[in-house]
Amino acid sequence: MTLRLGDIAPDFTTNTTEGPINFHEWLGSSWGVLFSHPKNFTPVCTTELGYTARLKPEFDKRNVKVIGLSVDPLDAHDRWAADIEETQGTALNFPLIADPERKVADLYGMIHPNASDTLTVRSVFVIGPDKRVKLTLTYPASTGRNFDEVLRVIDSLQLTAAHKVATPVNWKNGEDVIIVPAVSDDEAKTRFPGGWKALKPYLRIVKQPLA
Ligand code: BEZ
Repeated sequence: MTLRLGDIAPDFTTNTTEGPINFHEWLGSSWGVLFSHPKNFTPVCTTELGYTARLKPEFDKRNVKVIGLSVDPLDAHDRWAADIEETQGTALNFPLIADPERKVADLYGMIHPNASDTLTVRSVFVIGPDKRVKLTLTYPASTGRNFDEVLRVIDSLQLTAAHKVATPVNWKNGEDVIIVPAVSDDEAKTRFPGGWKALKPYLRIVKQPLA
């Protein structure tokens, strides 16, 4: 199945390292990040999971719940978790889905047969509080993802949702943003009383609104 931006993130019930969960119930009103790992006891995945665990306070600040997935059984996840803590210096602090039957992997199109019949690719799905898919990323098994970039996108998505602003190329949190084209100048006067700089009628730069 190909999931596209704006689609409802498919719901499922599954086993995780933190017990059985129903995905939509578990998300509640939070944002979510669901990401897959090709296989347990692999080096790149081990570093990704350790780093993501270290970022937990940043995800919490943004009201984002994080959940990983690997197509290995639960007992293997528990043994791998010990390696992650030992080698990365941070214990897993979010659930890791055990998906040996690849039910969730298939639901989210995480197996790309021309890359591998058995391993998932490195997928990332960012899901909004409305349960809709806001971002998809697909990386090959050999390239570790940049989870600072995932946080940066979440900052951008949350600004758009709250303030109707978009973020320009290479934007970083705190830098100027852009008023989305759907906002008229009249509406912008109310939303941005401090004014903006119009380089073109369609390119209106404004200070980043406070969260
Ligand atoms: C890894 O996580 O290191 C990895 C997994 C599958 C293929 C290549 C690398």
